[in-house]
Amino acid sequence: MSAVFNCLKAPLWSLFFALLICLPVQANQSAIASAHPLATSAGIKVLEQGGNAFDAAITVSAVLGVVEPYSSAFGGGGFWLLHRESDQKQVMIDGREKAPLAAHKDMYLDASGNVIANASINGPLSAGIPGTPAALVHLAENYALLPLQQTLAPAIVLAEQGFEVGEFYQKMAGWRLQALRDSFSASEIFLQDDDVPETGYRVRQPDLAKTLRHLAEKGFDGFYRGEVAERLLKGVRDNGGIWTEKDLSGYQVIERPPVVFNYNNKKIISAALPSSGGVVMAQIFNILSAYDFKNLSQVKQKHLVIEAMRRAYQQRAKYLGDSDFVTLNLEKLTSKFHAGRLAEDIDLNRASLSKGLVSAAEGRDTTHFSIIDNEGNRVAATLSINYPFGSGFVPEGTGVLLNDEMDDFSASPGVPNVYGLVGSQANAIEPGKRMLSSMSPTFVESDKGIAILGTPGGSRIITMVTQAILAMEDSLDPKQWVDLPRFHHQYLPDQVEYESGALTAEEIKQLTAMGHQLQQVDNPFGNMQAIYLDKKTGKVSAASDSRGIGAAQVK
Ligand code: DON
Repeated sequence: MSAVFNCLKAPLWSLFFALLICLPVQANQSAIASAHPLATSAGIKVLEQGGNAFDAAITVSAVLGVVEPYSSAFGGGGFWLLHRESDQKQVMIDGREKAPLAAHKDMYLDASGNVIANASINGPLSAGIPGTPAALVHLAENYALLPLQQTLAPAIVLAEQGFEVGEFYQKMAGWRLQALRDSFSASEIFLQDDDVPETGYRVRQPDLAKTLRHLAEKGFDGFYRGEVAERLLKGVRDNGGIWTEKDLSGYQVIERPPVVFNYNNKKIISAALPSSGGVVMAQIFNILSAYDFKNLSQVKQKHLVIEAMRRAYQQRAKYLGDSDFVTLNLEKLTSKFHAGRLAEDIDLNRASLSKGLVSAAEGRDTTHFSIIDNEGNRVAATLSINYPFGSGFVPEGTGVLLNDEMDDFSASPGVPNVYGLVGSQANAIEPGKRMLSSMSPTFVESDKGIAILGTPGGSRIITMVTQAILAMEDSLDPKQWVDLPRFHHQYLPDQVEYESGALTAEEIKQLTAMGHQLQQVDNPFGNMQAIYLDKKTGKVSAASDSRGIGAAQVK
């Protein structure tokens, strides 16, 4: 009963609805959906060995860090959204990278104040202080059942024995070839004779295996202090980076309360700042709530979703940044009243205008996984090193591929980052600050069931998760949510990007007539991993996005 009581303390909505969705859940099965079959199967094995969802999350994160070096790595960061069934605790583990203490607002600007191309994308100067190793230690010490030696073991074996290069790896390595060639160690590990490896080439990472052994044996100190830390610092500083010992030893994981809001009898639990995901999604859904959405025509629904996206991303650009550095009235920003104000100038027949145009780039990396165990514990985690293969830089002797997450800061007000996102002072670089993210690991709870989901995709992450939640109105099959063709608007540039099949010919005609600038994109959006638990039957289903090479397994 205390579990129910704890759950009821959080939401203030109708008691009846809260009681229905807060009742403890009996999952008869466990499931994992992740972006790589090796990560999914390693996670399932850990569950079979008696681990819980949090043990499996450590294993899946670590294996992904080894076999998907273009998406996440131990030199990166992420957000792990947790639900612990025994006491209904829901928390976001913030393992986001931090700006080094020597970082400053103008560090990517030239003498005339212009942004230096690629300075925040390639090489060690583009890397924030990694959070993933600390987050895995935090999970092990506070939530998991098994020792880190056991949960990191599959990743250590894969780092030693290697994994085979496939088509997707080749595409990503080709995309980041120059950055990888610029780093001696990265080229040695991730390229074959300084070129994109052939299909079937084995990527072996013995240095990384050693680093992971240190982490498994010594916990936080195994990475952030001592031998590994010394090598990281030497590699970074010898190559133009600015990290210091204090940056590493002072890195801290933060437990944050998730952003929680409701939409149409669903309770949505999502990422808190420094991810913009929960706030932006709350704004989008609050705007939709101001309308009789279900009874609008299909095209008007899409128009309204686009207008809501435009406004919420404008708010993101204007106000959002690391809440440890910026004073924000989150209650106001996520209120229905505020959404009503934002919706005031929406015309149901006409597109509004976002002022000024900038260009957006593709997001092709980052990773997400979703887990539920048969106790009902759940994890949704999105991890990143930002661009494919991050900064492309590996400090010698560590095997640790560093992120280029510094590009998620706003290098200069109004100047877009690689995802075309603009920002303000709220997301300007400051020493020790976390850069604003879009990663949105999310739970959706209703009286019928529970969904666990998320995706990579840069600025499009939030709108992808939004559309998956909207799709839950029509289908409770996660395969439908992950494979859904998607569209996206992010305020600037003032255009709707869409995948083939996301809009019908008639919708394209009508939305164009309303004044929307529509842009079909060839590259697919995202790599969503989702799980659904049917509360009545206890049946669990899981799905991995057909756009990727991932695997979903129910046990
Ligand atoms: O934190 C963020 O929002 C970005 N660094 C995520 C990058 C990403 O998803 C790239 N993906 N496809």
